[in-house]
This record gives sequence, C-alpha cells and structure tokens, in this order.
Amino acid sequence: MASSSQAVQSPPRHVAIVMDGNGRWARKRFMPRGMGHKAGVDALVKVVQATADRGIGYLTVFAFSSENWKRPEEEVSGLMSLLIVALSKYLAKLKDDGVRIRIAGDLDSVSDKVREALRGAERETQDNSRLVLTVAFNYGGRWDIVQACQRAMAAGLRPDQLDEQALAKFMTMNYAPDPDLFIRTGGEVRLSNFLLWQSAYAELFFTDCLWPDFDGAELDRALASFYARERRFGDVGTSGEGDGAIGVIEDVQPSSQGN
Ligand code: IPE
Ligand code: IPE
Ligand code: MG
Repeated sequence: MASSSQAVQSPPRHVAIVMDGNGRWARKRFMPRGMGHKAGVDALVKVVQATADRGIGYLTVFAFSSENWKRPEEEVSGLMSLLIVALSKYLAKLKDDGVRIRIAGDLDSVSDKVREALRGAERETQDNSRLVLTVAFNYGGRWDIVQACQRAMAAGLRPDQLDEQALAKFMTMNYAPDPDLFIRTGGEVRLSNFLLWQSAYAELFFTDCLWPDFDGAELDRALASFYARERRFGDVGTSGEGDGAIGVIEDVQPSSQGN
C-alpha cells in the first residue's frame, strides 16, 4: 500500500488564518481598537494578493467568531459597519483579481444589511476561480459540526449511513480541501473555535506578529516553516526508513514487584 505520509514540497492548497491582534496593534499606537480593525482589513487585502501570487487556491480567514458577540456593543457594531465599508471599498478590486468570496458562518443571526452585503459579495464573485477566499463570519467550529449534523439528519441519513465522509459533505466548507496550514497571528497559542473539524491534520503556525503587520514576508515565514515539516498523517514517515527492519520489542517478563 502506498505510504500516506509525504515530504512537504508543493505549496499548501489551503491556508487558514486567525487574524488576531488588531486591538493590541491599535493600543500600541494609542488609537481606538476600531483603528486596528480598519488596519486589519487593509492587511487582509494585501495578504489575499500575496496568497494568490504564491499559487495557493484557498484562503480562509477568521473575521468574526460566534464568541465575539461578547465584546462591547460599540465594538461589535463597529465591526459590522467596517465589514460593509470594506466590501464597498475592496469588492471590485478583489473581483478584478480573480478572487471568489465565500462566507462560512451563521448568517441567520446577523442583521439583514450585513447578510445582504456578504451574500452580494458571494454572488458578485461567483464566476472567479483564481483564489477562493472564505470569510468566516459569525463562525464557530462547534457550530459548524452541529449544523452539519442537523442538515444530515434533515436529509434523512440513518445513523449507520453517517461516517466521516458523509458528515464532511454537510460542513460549511465542503467545497474546499482541508487546510494544510493554520496560521494564528497575535501571539495567542489557541484555536479559539476555528475550523475544529477541518484542521484535524493542519500544520499549525503561531506568530507574535499582530495581524495589521502581517504581509507577504510574514506569509513566507509561515510557508518556510510548513515546507520544513514532515506530514505523516499517522504513518511512520520517511526519516529513519531504509533498512526495512522493524525493531522487535524484547519479550520482557512481567516483574513480580508491585503486583
Ligand atoms: C482580531 O483582533 C479581530 C477580531 C476578533 C474581530 P482582536 O480584536 O481580537 O485583537 P486583540 O486580540 O484584542 O489584540
Ligand atoms: C479569534 O480571536 C477570533 C477572530 C480572530 C475573529 P479572539 O481575539 O476573539 O480570540 P480569543 O478571545 O483571544 O480566544
Ligand atoms: Mg484577539
């Protein structure tokens, strides 16, 4: 049987990013947090370009989590307004650059205006294929798994028909390969409920770089780390292979001590 492990050589097909650190970026400059989010949008547009230039087909970014509603009302409403302003400012450019925008998240509980702006961006760019940019908005990894189960049940799947492949078809990002590289900026070393199902075998990369400072050079650092990894997917891998010998565990007699 062919080995499923592989030395990483080709670019990742799918990169996922937790764009964290906007608030701290602003605080360092004695600016309100909203200015950090605004700078974060500008960084994202540049990183989208850098990702497409490197031949990566899928980029998924965490823009607003299902837990971010806990923030002060002023910050939440500022983020909603920023989304609409950002789309009106950058949608035409992204469309011209061949970017297809898709949304992952629970849009039932966002305002009509925000939902329409997001759905409009999807419609406007649906014929593009150079890069699929998925914006995770009001997204949570647990929500994604639960909605997939609900939709599978609604489709009439019996318990014995439900396996990993069947459930994957109901996950929000069923159109994309699983992320190969999961990047988090801002210095926190946690997943914060992002792509829990899809990142089962993603290579994780954490950087202290605050999101508004992230750019093509930072992306290349993450990619260099990715290329240096050996992805084994549970197999034994290639290092240490060669003599074909499998070490035999000595037949050790159980000790009577402690029994
Ligand atoms: C990430 O930056 C953006 C969103 C969660 C919307 P933060 O706003 O979390 O920035 P920090 O972590 O407070 O610096
Ligand atoms: C994760 O960042 C969510 C987004 C980047 C949209 P948070 O700043 O919300 O995560 P925690 O609270 O530090 O885990
Ligand atoms: Mg944060």
